[in-house]
Amino acid sequence: MSIWRVKPVSAFEADMKKSTLKKVLGKWSLTAIGVGAIIGGGIFVLTGTGAYYHAGPALALSFIVAGIACVFAALCYSEFASILPVEGSAYAYAYGTIGEIFAWIIGWGLILEYAMGSMTVAVSWSGYFNKLLKIFHIELPDYLTSDPASYTGEGFSMNLPAFLIVLFVISILVKGTKSAAKANNMIVIMKVSAIIFVIIAGAFFINTDNWSPFIPEATQIIEKDTTHNAYGFSGIISGAAAIFFAYVGFDAVSTQAGEAINPKKDVPFAIIASLLICTTLYILVSLVLTGMMNYQDFNPLGKYPDAIKAPVAYAFDIAGQGWAGLIITIAATVGLISVLMVMIMGQSRIFLGMSKDGLIPKVFSNVNPISGTPKTNLLILGG
Ligand code: ALA
Repeated sequence: MSIWRVKPVSAFEADMKKSTLKKVLGKWSLTAIGVGAIIGGGIFVLTGTGAYYHAGPALALSFIVAGIACVFAALCYSEFASILPVEGSAYAYAYGTIGEIFAWIIGWGLILEYAMGSMTVAVSWSGYFNKLLKIFHIELPDYLTSDPASYTGEGFSMNLPAFLIVLFVISILVKGTKSAAKANNMIVIMKVSAIIFVIIAGAFFINTDNWSPFIPEATQIIEKDTTHNAYGFSGIISGAAAIFFAYVGFDAVSTQAGEAINPKKDVPFAIIASLLICTTLYILVSLVLTGMMNYQDFNPLGKYPDAIKAPVAYAFDIAGQGWAGLIITIAATVGLISVLMVMIMGQSRIFLGMSKDGLIPKVFSNVNPISGTPKTNLLILGG
């Protein structure tokens, strides 16, 4: 019973044989799960900060650097997933290689990533949803869009949209992985189309002078009492760190290995493919953005103080194409649903793996015989 014990591959294989999860995910559904988890609000929000405070027009190079860093991690995930095609992702890989205590720590790390992360996604979804409602002149009262901790008024408050979206996502997930994957596929097609649309439409407003110099000379940006080292080679690297959040999520594919039809081949394929698709889109978005708007114009103390908060929508506004803001808000609102869906789905599979190994209560490993999903686990998680 040592905390250092390693779970043998034969024990994983025995678990896989006993698994009652439905094997319904093909390689493109798995790839859509990856893209669904990766593309969220990050690309629409962080690009202004990356361009102004870090890389300038070379933001595209920051995306390449961050993409390369992710590829190394993705290759590790792929190799592990082809050896141990089980639910549980990095938790299971740690248990199969370095021991139970590390698996336990990583398992709880994943719970922070997926369970806690999904709550923040639900809250940012609520923000986009409220913005969308406002475009249609509907405004929810503050006490229905604020959590009790941040509500400044008197009496009851809750973030109702965040609550309802979690309820909605859980209701899809308990029905079955196949229907959830179908819903995810649709959302992914929609958000990728929106991004391609932004790239193509934005390309018409590029002023190539904005790309010159492509790598601005390294300098210090001084603001009140803070200084930022910006631009040059180090700006490209710090820019990669600043936008890294936009890549978070490619690991989620590996949590679904237990439901893949051909996990040894398709999970590695989907991890790499989703990362390549998103890297390509991100590079193009950043080129278009820094071509449409001079990176200096994202200065929060400059002539467009709000541009840095919603850089992509703002660039279109300045080009006189305010309608694009609506498309971006719709894309982010719908797109974040798939981020949430994949995160909650991933979390339930981490719980499932940990519960099978006895590291959390057994109730988390019940799989509903009709839907083939860990229904109780999902309901507790949703609650
Ligand atoms: N990569 C995800 C996003 O950008 C988490 O929202």
